[in-house]
Amino acid sequence: MNFPALKNDVFLRALMRQPVPYTPIWMMRQAGRYLPEYNETRARAGSFMGLAKNREYACEVTLQPLHRFELDAAILFSDILTVPDAMGLGLDFVAGEGPRFAHPVRHEDDVRKLAVPDMGRLEYVFEAVSLIRRELDGRVPLIGFAGSPFTIACYMVEGQGSDDYRLIKSMLYSRPDLAHRILQINADATVQYLNAQIQAGAQAVMIFDSWGGVLAHEAFQQFSLAYTRKVVQGLVREREGRPVPVIVFTKGGALWADQIADLGCDAMGLDWTASLGEVRHRVNDKVALQGNLDPMVLFAPEAAIREQVRKVIDDYGPVGNGGHVFNLGHGISRFTPPDAVSVLVDEVHTYSRRMHGA
Ligand code: CP3
Repeated sequence: MNFPALKNDVFLRALMRQPVPYTPIWMMRQAGRYLPEYNETRARAGSFMGLAKNREYACEVTLQPLHRFELDAAILFSDILTVPDAMGLGLDFVAGEGPRFAHPVRHEDDVRKLAVPDMGRLEYVFEAVSLIRRELDGRVPLIGFAGSPFTIACYMVEGQGSDDYRLIKSMLYSRPDLAHRILQINADATVQYLNAQIQAGAQAVMIFDSWGGVLAHEAFQQFSLAYTRKVVQGLVREREGRPVPVIVFTKGGALWADQIADLGCDAMGLDWTASLGEVRHRVNDKVALQGNLDPMVLFAPEAAIREQVRKVIDDYGPVGNGGHVFNLGHGISRFTPPDAVSVLVDEVHTYSRRMHGA
């Protein structure tokens, strides 16, 4: 496959800790409900999965935030739950309530039936990746993504989001054998899934360990980190003559920063509770850092947004050989005024250009 040449590689360079003219920025959930045009396309598609499973719609909404803002990367529009959906768990997004599985994995029998899905069932994702690459026309790189084995397992076992993770944690502590089997299948599936996205044109990949941070210290090592490591180790790391950087984001994971930096990834995502400078010092620039503005800052007046952005950039400190990708500490709120995002992107670019001496 031959795609248009990349015109802006600042994001990829920062992830590989190469010199950059300014700090690149993209936002988790940048294509989403805070944009009226997203809601309009979603209404036409009928449902969230209707959007995700149609490559034209998926491409359209992926590009929407790039038409409005000078973002330095695009992220595939899809979801981490496409993988368990392809395993036959029956995913549905109930309006206002989030994801639901018709057939959660709770008993020994459910676990025994579980298998790595045929990647043909996820072809719609890979087709969307290739279409987006063509339509991006080299403007910015495209990020592919997947959930971590543990985070996907949370939804598979709970059957939906959870406040206390009672069912998955009960399984970890009472039937670790079942939990390990689910996690191994998820890891194998995720390696195939991400490599197929890379094959289809994804230029960087991100692993979302959104719920690893709810685990006890020891459980995190065994049930989250160990399987994220298997995924990282199985990934194709070069395509089209360039490295394909790997970002690992564990929400609430800053206290395990040293171990995450040792996974073999190129970059670590951090939520807003961490100090970028402190984590940077601890990992001794072994990996690039991505983050970490509190998404709620975007509800403040313009001057306050600009001030908070500068604090994040200053906290990371002198860039030297790149190494910082600006992002929010988690997904953007659906209630965010889009104008606040324009302010955010402008401040990241103008302030960091000064810092980088351009
Ligand atoms: O970032 C992007 O713009 C790319 C698209 C993307 C979506 N989900 C689209 C989406 C990405 C990267 C995800 C990842 C994802 N999905 C995660 C990991 C990231 C994180 O937030 O920690 C998780 C845990 C999920 C599971 C999921 N999908 C939940 C819990 C929900 C409901 C949450 C909510 O805000 O209602 C979704 C739905 C979803 N996925 C939406 C979007 C834009 C909003 C739903 C909609 O349009 O109906």
